[in-house]
Amino acid sequence: MEFQDNKHLLKHNEMDEIHKEFVQIYNGADYNSIGSIINKTKELFEHTKRHFSYEESQMDQFNYPTSREHKEEHQKVLHEMQFFLEKSNTSIGKQLLKAYYKQKLPDWFDLHLISMDSDLASFLKQFKKG
Ligand SMILES: [Fe+2]
Ligand SMILES: [Fe+2]
Repeated sequence: MEFQDNKHLLKHNEMDEIHKEFVQIYNGADYNSIGSIINKTKELFEHTKRHFSYEESQMDQFNYPTSREHKEEHQKVLHEMQFFLEKSNTSIGKQLLKAYYKQKLPDWFDLHLISMDSDLASFLKQFKKG
């Protein structure tokens, strides 16, 4: 996965920094090693909790109008990550985790930034002026 400025850069420094970190951790996985994918998923899970709690604290601080939908989407992703990690002790679970990691996570990242995070970032910008 590549951090692409045209798609992923939201021009909100803290959010951009966190999103770049996500891509960096994600790219550290070795697809030939399921152990590596499991470790990176754990690392991403911890990183994502911090990522989301930062965004959610900004939503709360500035009364973001669609925080409920955005927070629900965050919860969904954390539950998914946790679900696939918990399943990863069986061989079918390892295949599922690998597929999730390779396909679903990058798709989610793209869509979430393009839809929800870009809206949040532009909302927050109005409070940064001056
Ligand atoms: Fe985000
Ligand atoms: Fe978000």
